[in-house]
Amino acid sequence: MSTLHPVETDAVREEERTDRVLRAAMVDKLRDWGGVRTGPVEAAMRAVPRHVFVPSVTLEQAYELDSVVTHRDESGRAISSASDPGVVAAMLEQLDARPGHRILEIGAGTGYNAALLAELAGPAGQVTTVDIGADIAAGARRALGAAGYDRVRAVHGDGEAGHPERAPYDRIIVTAGAWDVPPAWREQLAPNGRLVVPLRIQGVTRSVALELDGAVWRSVSIVVCGFIPMRGPSAMEETNVELGAAGSGVWLRVDDGQPIDAAALGRALTGAPVLTWSGVVVPWAPMTHLDFWLAGVAPICRVLVSDRAREAGLVDPIYRWGSMGCYTDGSFAYLVRRPAPGDTGQEMVELGACAYGPDGERLAGEAAGRVRAWGVARARDELTGLRIEVHPKESAGDPAAMITANKRHSRVFVTTTGG
Ligand SMILES: C[S@@+](CC[C@H](N)C(=O)[O-])C[C@H]1O[C@@H](n2cnc3c(N)ncnc32)[C@H](O)[C@@H]1O
Repeated sequence: MSTLHPVETDAVREEERTDRVLRAAMVDKLRDWGGVRTGPVEAAMRAVPRHVFVPSVTLEQAYELDSVVTHRDESGRAISSASDPGVVAAMLEQLDARPGHRILEIGAGTGYNAALLAELAGPAGQVTTVDIGADIAAGARRALGAAGYDRVRAVHGDGEAGHPERAPYDRIIVTAGAWDVPPAWREQLAPNGRLVVPLRIQGVTRSVALELDGAVWRSVSIVVCGFIPMRGPSAMEETNVELGAAGSGVWLRVDDGQPIDAAALGRALTGAPVLTWSGVVVPWAPMTHLDFWLAGVAPICRVLVSDRAREAGLVDPIYRWGSMGCYTDGSFAYLVRRPAPGDTGQEMVELGACAYGPDGERLAGEAAGRVRAWGVARARDELTGLRIEVHPKESAGDPAAMITANKRHSRVFVTTTGG
């Protein structure tokens, strides 16, 4: 028998009503925007109460299309969060989990995604989720229990090793930025299985759905995303090099152990910039995969900027966080935009490249040329021609690859049919 006080009952009812309304609105938005594409993912997102997994924020915030940071390290860096529901939905679509599947998630976090996986796998399926933070795994276990998903097993461990105890898995989904595809994931995947992983390639992250073809992982879909990097003994330190004087607020992010001459690039930033406009005019929206096209000029990087550096006019990148770019020994370029006229009612921008350093003129010109090649591929709807393959370490190079990234266990190739 209920012992709730009448006032509490009203409050609980009101919270449940608000939760249902907000959750339905969130899923409607995701469906309209295209993040949710199939019935099972839609049903799962309608079923799981996200607010139970993020109790530190208001009900309204729990259903915004935004991530919720739940844990930080001593330096204040986010180490765990509930991912943005848009990214969660897009990755579940990539995963194609079916009733009866055995699923492994690496990165339990709040437990929210594991609950969604439990909905997709159904009562005949099995979900295991692993987190490297003992307290985080325990928190996920509690939240899963509170939301009625105690059939999910949330365990503490390093996901680099998978979770051999319950292998093989029909699906493995990684919800932290991975530097590589370790052997355990291949060994623990069932025949015809699928791995979805946010893979870091030279400072850029893509959620890649991979299937095995012999010893080679081949992408079946690629989605733009950003993720908290994986931690643990196998993690690589993220390389963010601040350019110029300390506190300049301009960083270059490069990964995969790429060499970088920070002092020379810092000197370059104090010189005059070279600006080249491409003539490519596009709607103001994410510039999907444009970073990979820049690899034809020089190694790619992210140019990250602080609000202060942008407001001071030191740099003027495409996005608030910065821009995609490329660099050589002592020069670098990043992409810029300016308003352009258009008759579709959409905000239009022209893309260009801004470069610094002795090689700046060449870099800006060639980067603008690659923007044109990307623009052609985009107009021909060829951006979906992008492929990512993860080969064994000893694999010979692919001469047609736009990018070759040498990892600890593998070699990653990015290829395209467009441009
Ligand atoms: C973005 S959060 C995951 C979000 C989660 N799926 C959810 O629904 O809330 C990333 C998580 O990965 C975990 N993580 C990082 N490195 C890991 C590793 N090597 N093995 C397992 N988990 C890891 C972090 O502790 C963090 O909780």
